[in-house]
Amino acid sequence: MKDNRAESGGRRLGNSEFGSEDLVDVFLRAKEEEQLQFPIDDNNIKAVLFDMFTAGTDTSASTIDWTLVELLRHPRVMAKVQAEVRQAMKENNGENSNMKYLKLVIKETLRLHPPAPMLPRACIDEHVIDGYTIPAGSMVMVNIWAMQRDPMYWKDPERFEPERFETEDLSFLGSDLKYMPFGVGRRICPGTTFGLAAVESPLAQLLYHFDWNLPEGVRAEDLDMIENIGNTASRIQNLFVVATPYE
Ligand code: HEM
Repeated sequence: MKDNRAESGGRRLGNSEFGSEDLVDVFLRAKEEEQLQFPIDDNNIKAVLFDMFTAGTDTSASTIDWTLVELLRHPRVMAKVQAEVRQAMKENNGENSNMKYLKLVIKETLRLHPPAPMLPRACIDEHVIDGYTIPAGSMVMVNIWAMQRDPMYWKDPERFEPERFETEDLSFLGSDLKYMPFGVGRRICPGTTFGLAAVESPLAQLLYHFDWNLPEGVRAEDLDMIENIGNTASRIQNLFVVATPYE
């Protein structure tokens, strides 16, 4: 492996100075330099890489899938977001630019279809909630799927309406606990920015280049909206669509 310190005259390099290093290079360097407070070995590296693949692929893929399904069920939103994407990409020579409505569409998709709907937490101290004693050490599952559809906090919660986020200024960082598709606190998803880019960019391309329709005889209202039980709450049925090139 390249010795970055030799190139920098023994000085520790900053993040932007490592050039072509990928994630595995960084881990191997950290292991060899033995400078971390908690030394890492090959097993730790394998575990983190496994985590990156499991946490980082299905989540984004399922969000793209759910977004397309919701757009097919809501032609008004499909027309509006495609008009925005096509205009923005034409103005910017095919580059993704600031597509505000597409961001709202993704936000609303993540409200109704959070890929990780149950967040596990350990209860450190004993608490009583609504008369129920939660002993210290219990594992508590926080059901964000239910919270993000709770009529106490959301108007018409079952309705897919991206415009609700024009007035509800909710970030992805869990600043308001009624909306936390990336979790909250010290275990919040470290891949939030990457995950959003991995959803927004392919969606912009798909929406720009194709018009999307359901196969003949399939009605949008008949699409099965049931989630898988598993690591990621993807849609249980595969989505079959007819793509017609736009230009
Ligand atoms: C739409 C995309 C994604 C969504 C909705 C999502 C959502 C989540 C959620 C809800 C958690 C649990 C947070 C908590 O317990 O508070 C989580 C954890 C995690 N995510 Fe993501 N994620 C996405 C993409 C990614 C990507 C792209 C990566 C990495 C490349 C990633 C890496 C991780 C890791 C490593 C954890 C575990 C963090 C820990 O336990 O400390 N995620 N994610």
